[in-house]
Amino acid sequence: MKTRITELLNIEYPVIQGGMAWVAEHSLAAAVSAAGGFGLIGAANAPAEWVREEIRKVKALTDKPFGVNIMLLSPHAEAIAKVVVEEGVAAVTTGAGNPEKYMQMWKDAGIKVIPVVASVALAKRMEKYGADAVIAEGCESGGHIGQQTTMALVPQVVDAVSIPVIAAGGIADGRGFAAAMMLGAEAVQMGTRFIVAKESIVHQNYKDRVMLAKDIDTEVTGRSTGHPVRALRNKMTREYLRLEKEGASFEELEYLTLGSLRKAVMEGNVSEGTLMAGQSAGMVKKEQTCSEIILEIVDEAERLLKLK
Ligand SMILES: Cc1cc2nc3c(=O)[nH]c(=O)nc-3n(C[C@H](O)[C@H](O)[C@H](O)COP(=O)(O)O)c2cc1C
Repeated sequence: MKTRITELLNIEYPVIQGGMAWVAEHSLAAAVSAAGGFGLIGAANAPAEWVREEIRKVKALTDKPFGVNIMLLSPHAEAIAKVVVEEGVAAVTTGAGNPEKYMQMWKDAGIKVIPVVASVALAKRMEKYGADAVIAEGCESGGHIGQQTTMALVPQVVDAVSIPVIAAGGIADGRGFAAAMMLGAEAVQMGTRFIVAKESIVHQNYKDRVMLAKDIDTEVTGRSTGHPVRALRNKMTREYLRLEKEGASFEELEYLTLGSLRKAVMEGNVSEGTLMAGQSAGMVKKEQTCSEIILEIVDEAERLLKLK
């Protein structure tokens, strides 16, 4: 399954592991890359030195290419933008902001730049700034979401840009992978399915909640703030939605969720933590190694696409 993305990133399979805050640390990223996919470290709001250490730990585990997801609104974004150059990662994916001011520095360092986009307009802007590819992410996904669905967004982005497009949001098996390719994508990015990977450090309580989830078990909070987030329904989401309905201020809502993803990932607090996960959680049923996950979905997609 060779595409422009496997060429661009020098990987065997067009499968990318989303740069998930707290979840995507060195063990997950290294396991995905070692298995022939593309692993990402999720920098989120972490300090630059943490990111540097994580990069070095991935390098100690595999010599395969991997990348870093940089949340551009992070107070550490500028420092992290330099760390990825100093440490020499293969690619960065970016979210929540405009990567334009780092573009030249990254290009000069040979780093591929792949912004996450939730609209055609943003995809076109990123192409103009010099992005090497874009990740078109539909609102089925876990974490921060846009408005459009993967099914409608991906083909429209594919039509609007000439750089390769990676599909994300709601893809968790070979059927979704094959469908994404039919829509014109040249790779997929998955988050939810990798939460339960054997190499993922996510607390077992969180993994169990993902594996027990049904199709309707995710909830979107934060629509009133303009920063919607998809997570599994629990005490936290109920409390958040109640406060939102009552017209709570942005600060109050922020305070409620402060550190809540860490609580879920590290402590396994499934009532007060934020269990970010996508609608595909309903079809994620077992813990497998990253290699098993990747080989299974590639095999299924190749059969569906009649590539073998
Ligand atoms: C727990 C969690 C945390 C996430 N954190 C980030 C993040 O920090 N930056 C980012 O670009 N995407 C983040 N995402 C989105 C993923 O990278 C990926 O695009 C998404 O999960 C794909 O959709 P899926 O969940 O349906 O597979 C997160 C997703 C989850 C589930």
